[in-house]
Amino acid sequence: MNKPLSRLTAAEAAQLIEHDQTVAFSGFTPAGAPKNTPFAIAQRAKELHANGKPFKIGVLTGASTGKSLDGALAEAEAIRFRAPYQSDPTLRKSINEGRAQFSDMHLSMMPQNVRYGFLGKVDWAIIEACEVTPSGEITLTSAVGAAPTYCNVAEKIIIEHNSFHPATLRGFHDIYEPLDPPYRKPFAVCAPSDRIGAPVIKVDPSKIVGVVETNTPDEVVGFGEASDITAQIGSNVADFLAREISRGLIPKCFLPIQSGVGDTANAVLKAMGERADIPVFEMYTEVIQDAVVALMKSGKVRFASGCSLTVSPAVLREIYADIEFFRSRTLLRPQEISNSPEIVRRLGLISINTAIEVDITGNVNSTHVLGKSMMNGIGGSGDFARNAFLSIFTCPSTAKGGKISTIVPLASHLDHSEHSVQIIITEQGVADLRGKSPSERARTIIENCASPDYRPILQDYVAMAGAAHTPQTLSSAFGMHLAFSKKGDMRQVNWSDCK
Ligand code: COA
Repeated sequence: MNKPLSRLTAAEAAQLIEHDQTVAFSGFTPAGAPKNTPFAIAQRAKELHANGKPFKIGVLTGASTGKSLDGALAEAEAIRFRAPYQSDPTLRKSINEGRAQFSDMHLSMMPQNVRYGFLGKVDWAIIEACEVTPSGEITLTSAVGAAPTYCNVAEKIIIEHNSFHPATLRGFHDIYEPLDPPYRKPFAVCAPSDRIGAPVIKVDPSKIVGVVETNTPDEVVGFGEASDITAQIGSNVADFLAREISRGLIPKCFLPIQSGVGDTANAVLKAMGERADIPVFEMYTEVIQDAVVALMKSGKVRFASGCSLTVSPAVLREIYADIEFFRSRTLLRPQEISNSPEIVRRLGLISINTAIEVDITGNVNSTHVLGKSMMNGIGGSGDFARNAFLSIFTCPSTAKGGKISTIVPLASHLDHSEHSVQIIITEQGVADLRGKSPSERARTIIENCASPDYRPILQDYVAMAGAAHTPQTLSSAFGMHLAFSKKGDMRQVNWSDCK
């Protein structure tokens, strides 16, 4: 018979965390991330700092988190090191000002990098659960992320038992942690609904130091209505996919969809849902957003496998009010499985992600503004894009009111090389890069995807290269970026100044 688990307040839990330790949190996006304990750790950091004492920790998570975790800890200057993804404005500032070190990583690789020891010792796992038993069975909440690995490797575990999430969530999760090489076996997922694991994480209960009781909704911020531009991008994606089906290049039964994060991704899903010539489909994706839930209710999405239910609190309440409907249509997996290159390649996903900038030969930057400032991170985009049946990147053709062209001569940071990128779609149109040489790609991207304001500028750039396999001129390749930095508008570039 196991002993009952000890109860702790969040403040008592926070007192256990020491300066310089590494703390791994459950969750993937704000879904499933602990809230009260990290907030209390941030308060402890502030008190120690006020008394002249150091307190900074390494923070590992599944992906981004909410304001009580990344936001509060960054605001308290309590983050020494952070991996593998973030999207909190305060933390982003701290990273871009060099006050917190950030390691941006393919999300499928985070759990194995931790198990291999590449990120050092993990002192604590702080895990949000809707149920925990004295025998050490943990039922997660709205995300799986890297929680199974964090429970496995951490020296000690604190559970945040969040009664906002019902214990009937048991069965939504498929917990599977692979063996490490050379003992790893194939991941036997041959359809989005295939299960390969257990409904709960099982740990040695003596590792659980205590349970903090909470009742707090996920800190997911919902999306606004699609703008004219994102709606047009969505419509261009839906047109393209319908055309590919009618040309026989995508099977008539369709293929599972992976869709990225953000406003553009949400607008793309909405557009796909509205089209009669897009068949009912399944999703094998990372983040299940509000738009997916709407498509499940309308019958357009038959099944969604993901790593998190990153939905606004109102949509999560709808799911919990009709939990049996969603139980038969939803599966939450560890990020190592939801984003597994092996499974992505086997299932033949159609992968749709958003770029910050795309260059004329199809290299994509998903992470950096002007080559220097981190936005969020690569997330799962590389896991999917490199291995998909069809790899699509979308973005508006301009940013900052037209002062920035997202189509540039050379990407100021590289996340996805031209070899992993097949289709570019902006509100202007579609560039199909399959089977094209770099100079053919440059022509189609500029003609079909660049804003009319920037087309002649980019065409002049290509002309400068003369006859070449890849139309680049190294002395001018960042001329448009430099024009924005110096004159506040990429349209002010003067190619003759750059030579
Ligand atoms: N230069 C400078 N700023 C740019 C820019 C560019 N080329 N392109 C976009 N931006 C700015 C926008 O102006 C906006 O700024 P604001 O917040 O000050 O308004 C911000 O970046 C977000 O752009 P938006 O068009 O609203 O994008 P989004 O919400 O669709 O998100 C990404 C786009 C790329 C930031 C987001 O999809 C992302 O982080 N992707 C990487 C991870 C990923 O793909 N994950 C999915 C894998 S499953």
